[in-house]
Amino acid sequence: MDPVDELIAQAEAGVSLFADRDVLHHSHIPDAIQHRDAEQTQVTQSLLPIIRGSRPSNLLVYGKPGTGKTLVVRKVILKIQEGVKRRNFPIKLVYTNSKVETTLYGLLVSFGRQLGMDDKELPWTGISISALFTRILSKIERDSINVVLVIDEIDFLAKIVSKGSKDILYHVTRANERLQSGSLTFVGISNNLTFKDILDPRVISSLSEEEIVFPNYTIEQLRTIILERIKVAFNSGVVEESASNLCATLAGREHGDARRAIDLIRVAGEIAERDQSTSVIGDHVHTAFEKIEEDKETTAIKSYPLHEKLVLAAVMRANGSTTGGIYNTYKGLCKGVRQKELSQRRITQMLSEIEMSGLISGRLVHQGIHGNTKKFKLTISPDLVRDTLRQDATFEEMV
Ligand SMILES: Nc1ncnc2c1ncn2[C@@H]1O[C@H](COP(=O)(O)OP(=O)(O)O)[C@@H](O)[C@H]1O
Ligand SMILES: [Mg+2]
Repeated sequence: MDPVDELIAQAEAGVSLFADRDVLHHSHIPDAIQHRDAEQTQVTQSLLPIIRGSRPSNLLVYGKPGTGKTLVVRKVILKIQEGVKRRNFPIKLVYTNSKVETTLYGLLVSFGRQLGMDDKELPWTGISISALFTRILSKIERDSINVVLVIDEIDFLAKIVSKGSKDILYHVTRANERLQSGSLTFVGISNNLTFKDILDPRVISSLSEEEIVFPNYTIEQLRTIILERIKVAFNSGVVEESASNLCATLAGREHGDARRAIDLIRVAGEIAERDQSTSVIGDHVHTAFEKIEEDKETTAIKSYPLHEKLVLAAVMRANGSTTGGIYNTYKGLCKGVRQKELSQRRITQMLSEIEMSGLISGRLVHQGIHGNTKKFKLTISPDLVRDTLRQDATFEEMV
């Protein structure tokens, strides 16, 4: 049978392992959130004053990726907002994500839009961030609304806010003091505990009137979370117990990351389906794990600037060489692409940075009277590096 026809026929016949694939998507809000009762209570309690018409404290929520922060906060604001609709309160809860809105300006426009402001009031260009923000505050005052603004992945905001606008961020977080009527509360969510070091301490102190930390999930907790999700996502009996257990173990290995566990079972299901297997087994999960790792590595390589890529190509060519050997290879590669080479010091530093990302590993060796040096080798397959680098036109013929 024609391969295209065959696949279409299969899809038409409805042969699928999945019952509802969409519940494995990141944005899905499951009916029950397990192992997070205390956190749900804390977040709700912190925001409750808004229902009684007073201003809640600003709140900072922390935890490693995949610990359920976005899920819990989104659920709580949805629930509060539902009640508001029924009772017709002047309350508004707004969700923004600074990884999606990659400028402070964009984030504020998105915020204002969700308050019902239009293009005229919120132009995409032509006014300053503080003017934009003043307009939003007037709107809050005019309508006398109590507003909660969630800024998810706020650690990104710290990186995108340029030095000049650091003060603006401070004023934004203290905005409530400027309001004659209505109120504004901030909920910041961060995947990263060290982001406090990047942001202005004044911003931190006004944001963190209250703090909630989400702990990592244990492997056992991940197991029950994943089983719950499998029940709705897959046809019954399709996923073998060994496969779901493996997802929990692999996702729990680094830190208890529920996103990782769900991604694993989704990709494993897709692989099983492609294999025309009637069940999802441990092998599919192993393959899924490798594929996800590979995708992560590819993304990391693609995001490197030119000289990092050249250094990586040099390590690949001179695999196992000392820093000096790799530097010489790097210089040769620079000539090949007509780039001025950077200093050996800079390249040594770059090698440590790439080592931290896990793509290469370094081993200290003693060279007698010449002191110590490091030898570097790739930790990932050269084919993967080569294929990924070739997607950059500069490297097409070189590697
Ligand atoms: N306790 C839980 N029960 C069910 N699903 C969960 C739970 N915690 C996290 N998840 C799921 O794991 C994924 C990651 O959760 P998320 O809230 O986005 O993590 P974070 O924001 O902390 O990085 C989402 O798909 C979410 O639905
Ligand atoms: Mg999140």
